[in-house]
Amino acid sequence: MTDRLVWLPFEPDLLDDPPAGLRYEVVDPTEHVPDSVGQVRFYVPPYQVGSAVADVLPQMTGLEVVQTLTAGVDNLRPHVPDGVTLCNGRGIHDTSTAELALTLVLSSLRGIPSWVRAQDRHQWRPGWRPALADKRVLLVGYGAIGAAIERRLLPFEVEVTRVARTARDGVHAFTELPELLPSADVVVLVVPLTEETRGLVDAAFLAALPDGALLVNVARGAVVDNDALLAELDTGRLRAAVDVVDPEPVPEDHPFWDAPGLLISPHVGGASSAMWPRAHRLVRDQLHRYAAGEDLWNVMSGDY
Ligand SMILES: NC(=O)c1ccc[n+]([C@@H]2O[C@H](COP(=O)([O-])OP(=O)(O)OC[C@H]3O[C@@H](n4cnc5c(N)ncnc54)[C@H](OP(=O)(O)O)[C@@H]3O)[C@@H](O)[C@H]2O)c1
Repeated sequence: MTDRLVWLPFEPDLLDDPPAGLRYEVVDPTEHVPDSVGQVRFYVPPYQVGSAVADVLPQMTGLEVVQTLTAGVDNLRPHVPDGVTLCNGRGIHDTSTAELALTLVLSSLRGIPSWVRAQDRHQWRPGWRPALADKRVLLVGYGAIGAAIERRLLPFEVEVTRVARTARDGVHAFTELPELLPSADVVVLVVPLTEETRGLVDAAFLAALPDGALLVNVARGAVVDNDALLAELDTGRLRAAVDVVDPEPVPEDHPFWDAPGLLISPHVGGASSAMWPRAHRLVRDQLHRYAAGEDLWNVMSGDY
């Protein structure tokens, strides 16, 4: 039997000990599609190229597995043919995204953007700011990244409330949000984009938050209704920090750029030195499982 072909977005040497019995090619199909496309069995698309990485899928007639490096597969899922196993990058981004979520929370509360602006003008502008200590933090999404955020939050002397899709011990269901929102000083969104979560943060969600609350979005932009958020920011009642926006990139004339109390990072939750070692570990483990005919991790079998 000829070795099964794997397309990787990085050199196989980075996998430490890639399993034998597989053949590797390093390909970015958004740049060039090699003639071997019909032989690909296991496809790891390049990171963060968006849905363009799906354009090649109809040519992959022998495809068995798509392994993404992203945790969210909302862009890719509709394009993966029936019978092909889709695995996400759950776990790759926990550390990096949790670190960014904490960075956004702390920067917003302590006013780092205003100090940076003042520094640019060579101005010394001391002032009092809210601390993270003593805040009630609502985590909307308590999966791999949500739990990693919680681990980093707890040493800051906060009270954490967890919300997920389904209720379980210590975790509320999202249907309970209307009762939970009025006592949330900080809300961190870290859910997948699904039919249920699209527009979850609408005018009613935001209106239920107390004055001065901070909304942090490290999930997907479309989880938040932009107009509803802008309306709250314009009055100065709420503040927000978003790593993800709908649309991305944010157009130059978008009102978000000048919205008061809004801190924007350009979808960089995963984009740090912490990502690649974890990405290589996950892909290596998956390829060993695939080569041995074992069950794969992170198979996306539900509706998200
Ligand atoms: N900013 C970035 O660069 C970046 C990086 C990585 C990931 N992300 C985003 O973060 C998302 C989460 O990643 P993850 O690895 O933590 O995923 P995960 O382990 O699958 O966890 C997802 C969590 O969201 C919850 N959830 C699903 N639908 C919900 C709803 N309607 N209301 C409330 N909670 C709901 C799930 O509930 P159950 O536990 O009940 O299933 C689960 O707790 C990704 O899908 C991606 O969109 C962003």
